[in-house]
Amino acid sequence: RKKVTIQALQSMKEKRTPMTMLTAYDYPSALACSSNPLIDITLVGDSLAQVCLGYNSTTELSLSEMIHHARAVARGTTHPFIVADMPFGSYQISIEDTARNAVKLIQEGRVEGLKLEGGSEIRDTVRKLSGLGIPVMAHVGLLPQRHVAMSGYRVQGKDVDSARRIINDALVLEEAGAFSIVLEAIPKELAAYVTQRLRIPTIGIGAGSQTDGQVLVWGDMMGTWAGHKAKFVRRFGDLKTERDSAIQKYAEAVKLRTFPDDSESYTMDKMAWEEVSR
Ligand code: KIV
Ligand code: NA
Repeated sequence: RKKVTIQALQSMKEKRTPMTMLTAYDYPSALACSSNPLIDITLVGDSLAQVCLGYNSTTELSLSEMIHHARAVARGTTHPFIVADMPFGSYQISIEDTARNAVKLIQEGRVEGLKLEGGSEIRDTVRKLSGLGIPVMAHVGLLPQRHVAMSGYRVQGKDVDSARRIINDALVLEEAGAFSIVLEAIPKELAAYVTQRLRIPTIGIGAGSQTDGQVLVWGDMMGTWAGHKAKFVRRFGDLKTERDSAIQKYAEAVKLRTFPDDSESYTMDKMAWEEVSR
């Protein structure tokens, strides 16, 4: 498949062709995303923090950790458009710091676009990066980087005020130059309405089926993540069962000395071995 561009994503919205985004955190998961022509976007999500690095929250992830993983994902990425999350703290301090960090993540992480969590309060940041020619994916609704301030990972936009705020945020972020927007954990009616109001593609997670695209976290969809399963997660695979059974079989075979067998072992010429062992 040809390289996916922003224009291609935009035309998918216009043709109402759903877009697929999937997270990747390293070279093999990036290769897996790239091996399927139906995957449009590979996201180096900061869910990297929990899924790969064992942190409790995305707020613990540093910019250098993100760059290290983004580079590996970039090495395995072919056709999908590749986006990385700007880690918490890398786009809050000042506009200069933000621009420096964004350029660093693009150059050293080798990604094409950056995702930033936040509403109208980050409009100037989105405008600045877009103005530098850095494609920005916005992210509204549930904002995991603010889970403490939001009193947990909870659905957003259920009441009138908060639904109106999300609509306004999305419009403001589009106007500020975002090329697309993630809608996380919001009612499906609200997500469908925002999708219809915006010209840029919306990518939902826990936002119903009427967004322009969907995204899932690798470990959630593969069934390798043993932690909490959100309402909106569907496990499309059960790799945990497969993986654990492979570990069990390997360990048993070693304990029983049935691994390796002769076909998996090297041998020496009989005469040569007699000379060595004489
Ligand atoms: O970090 C992540 O994986 C994300 C997606 C869930 C959108 O931000
Ligand atoms: Na994220």
